[in-house]
Amino acid sequence: MKTKILKISVNSSDYVQSEEFSQCVSDVKAGALVIFPTETVYGLGAVIDNEEALRKIYMAKGRPSDNPLIVHIANMKQLERVIEKDPPEIFGKLAHIFWPGPVTFILKKNRAISQIITGNRSTVAVRFPSNKIAQSLINQCEVPIAAPSANLSGTPSPTRAEHLKEMKGRVEWIIETEPLEFGLESTIISLVESEPLLLRPGPVTMERLMDFIPNLRVNKDLSQARAPGMKYRHYSPKASVIVLDWDKNTSQMVKKAIETFKKLEKENTDKKMILICTDETQGEYSKASIDSLSLGSKHDLYRVASNLFHFLRMLDEKHIDIALVEGFEEKGLGITIMNRLNKAALS
Ligand code: TXA
Ligand code: MG
Repeated sequence: MKTKILKISVNSSDYVQSEEFSQCVSDVKAGALVIFPTETVYGLGAVIDNEEALRKIYMAKGRPSDNPLIVHIANMKQLERVIEKDPPEIFGKLAHIFWPGPVTFILKKNRAISQIITGNRSTVAVRFPSNKIAQSLINQCEVPIAAPSANLSGTPSPTRAEHLKEMKGRVEWIIETEPLEFGLESTIISLVESEPLLLRPGPVTMERLMDFIPNLRVNKDLSQARAPGMKYRHYSPKASVIVLDWDKNTSQMVKKAIETFKKLEKENTDKKMILICTDETQGEYSKASIDSLSLGSKHDLYRVASNLFHFLRMLDEKHIDIALVEGFEEKGLGITIMNRLNKAALS
């Protein structure tokens, strides 16, 4: 399959009138697959009313068919055909606060929603992205778009145009843009249980969620929260990822990291190793002659988050065998970062 590539900036809306964008929209309406940017990660989508196209999503990703997709809408009217009538009251309140934005809600599905999207569940995942390109695409298609993240099953979600190389030849259209705002997948909250349940931590911090949903239930070990799809190998580079414990005493943490690194180095003389750290600690590793990469400052976790998947992908490009990663405090966005790091370490 020949993949057509459209490069668009989020900072201009000129593309909306362009012939290429219209062509993309009409192809997608007719059942083509499209990779498109959102504020979290790139999605690999198809219109929800074309089952043949929906099936192709699973093939293009190599995704197990029981792992359900998220339906993306671009106006509240589109909800009608996605969820059951009369959703719980809290949904209206939360949608008003968090949409458009990086939060996905699980609700009872509308009868019209294909089982291919939901993997035979009675519920559906729905999200209203804030990214303008995603919104224009969905609005112009006039149909919601079902999409998982646009990575091959098992690799980290794509957050930059360069990460989409592996998808060329697998989809009809790729819409590329600047590096995405958050770089981590949306927060998933189920509203079909007796009380709201967090299935996947995401860009919205726990603290903010708790402000609006004081009865939000979470797994005891937050960084282990699980949506059904999370049983599958995820976010994983080929390299072995080892996450070090966070310690509020930074010099203690650095000391332990150096010890662990040197010990592993001795045991694996034929292996290429690297330490992934923060701006605050990188200097110490240089002094100890340890190769390191900094994700950014620990005081700017949004930056760390937006770099994370890019760095995981970079490990493979640099043919790294073992990556030791400094842990983050499980607070604020640190919870989501640790959730993804722990998943990357699972392989
Ligand atoms: O930020 C995001 O959420 C991105 C962008 C593209 O929107 N999408 C994304 O999709 O991360 P995906 O498929 O990689 O992750 C969706 C997760 C999976 O773990 C899936 O199991 C869960 O949502 N999910 C989908 N439908 C569900 C349902 N009905 N009940 C519970 N979990 C569901
Ligand atoms: Mg995914």
